[in-house]
Amino acid sequence: MTEPIKLESLPLGAQGMVCTDDWCAVPGADADASAAGSDTAIGTGGGATANKGDTEQLRPILPGATIGILGGGQLGRMLAHAGSRLGFRFVTLDPTPDAPCGQTAEQIVAGYDDREAARELARRSDVITYEFENVDAGVAAMLEAESYVPQGSALLHTTQHRLREKRAIEAAGAKVAPYAEVASLEALRGAAARLGLPAVLKTATGGYDGKGQWVLRAEAELEPAWAEAERAGTELVLEKFISFEKEISVIAARRPSGEIRTFPPAENVHVNNILHLSIVPARISDEVRREAERMAVSIAETLGVVGLIAVEMFVQEDGTLYINELAPRPHNSGHYTIEASRTSQFEQHIRAICDLPLGDPGLLTPVVMVNVLGQHVQPLLEWMKTPDAEAERLGVEPKVHLYGKAESKHNRKMGHVNVLAPNVDAALAWIAQSNIWRV
Ligand SMILES: Nc1ncnc2c1ncn2[C@@H]1O[C@H](COP(=O)(O)OP(=O)(O)O)[C@@H](O)[C@H]1O
Ligand SMILES: [Mg+2]
Repeated sequence: MTEPIKLESLPLGAQGMVCTDDWCAVPGADADASAAGSDTAIGTGGGATANKGDTEQLRPILPGATIGILGGGQLGRMLAHAGSRLGFRFVTLDPTPDAPCGQTAEQIVAGYDDREAARELARRSDVITYEFENVDAGVAAMLEAESYVPQGSALLHTTQHRLREKRAIEAAGAKVAPYAEVASLEALRGAAARLGLPAVLKTATGGYDGKGQWVLRAEAELEPAWAEAERAGTELVLEKFISFEKEISVIAARRPSGEIRTFPPAENVHVNNILHLSIVPARISDEVRREAERMAVSIAETLGVVGLIAVEMFVQEDGTLYINELAPRPHNSGHYTIEASRTSQFEQHIRAICDLPLGDPGLLTPVVMVNVLGQHVQPLLEWMKTPDAEAERLGVEPKVHLYGKAESKHNRKMGHVNVLAPNVDAALAWIAQSNIWRV
């Protein structure tokens, strides 16, 4: 921990905001009802309108203020890195002691559903953000009612559930893969006949890195997949399998006053459903690039996003774009921005939630981000010990990021390397010849 920053006057009285009656009067912010699984959106949607009437006095939030982060993983850690540089202070809530973000911020060690701990986070923060989307609905509503959460809980409510998310994407005028909600094996059979196989059965909530998904290629696979999926105990969605040429993602930032900026699309390569590479600039036409950015802007506007929204897309050979899913937070495919962009996604998120003018998202250099999983850590550390003649020959500069996780497990995200390069082919050539990503 660094020494507290001493400013003459903190803009908001960095410690302890008072919950006035005005503030707490968030429509529908009945924490108990939502905790009991109410399907009603909480709050009024996006910080742009949430806590109406009081946010004006809170903006903009200036350095010296404390930002509270729900979740203490690598995304929180990198937010704290970017924000500390600007002069903000950070406190995080995470159940794991010495969490990645806890190493760069103060940490409250408690479960995500611990309301007293969440209140303590609110008491110590001027503004609250989250670094993962599966925030307990009751806690999100309570925080929104009792503190300043410019992102609002409505955006979380939408993106926590694939069906709600798909409807929101369609409302923004963008395409999703044809889909159907399936509540029984018969419904699954009917949907499979209508949409055609192959198709992907997905849990509506809680999935990540391909977990909670079953690719169905033949009729005979429906029943066993259903039996397994049903055990997840959540609603299920069947999606048509999209034969895409590429996957890309666009990260957009929006601030409460409405300014929106998008980062250049990243071309994403997955291995075992886990992101392996993000290649920037993506190898797509200018037309697809413009359309992808336009869709991200439309989604950010329609959803009243405050902060970041990552938009994952499939690109077909003819340039057709389908939106796959959204994430209302910094995204793995945006880590390249730390060294390769004029403004990183993390700084942009902080600027957005604090309602400061957004930074230029322009690219400074071609880059390939490659993820470091548990099995890559030892070879990476070995590589770090000696100069790399091949990197020099190719003109690439690999920038190492490790997240400080105590336990290194197979396929666990432990860090990433941003390979800065004269062109993406040089970066890809360096990664291909390196011994780090062979396993
Ligand atoms: N409808 C689909 N058609 C083709 N591939 C898909 C489809 N849905 C998912 N996938 C593949 O599975 C990966 C993970 O799916 P996604 O819905 O993004 O879930 P997660 O939450 O695990 O990231 C996608 O990045 C894509 O490669
Ligand atoms: Mg995904």
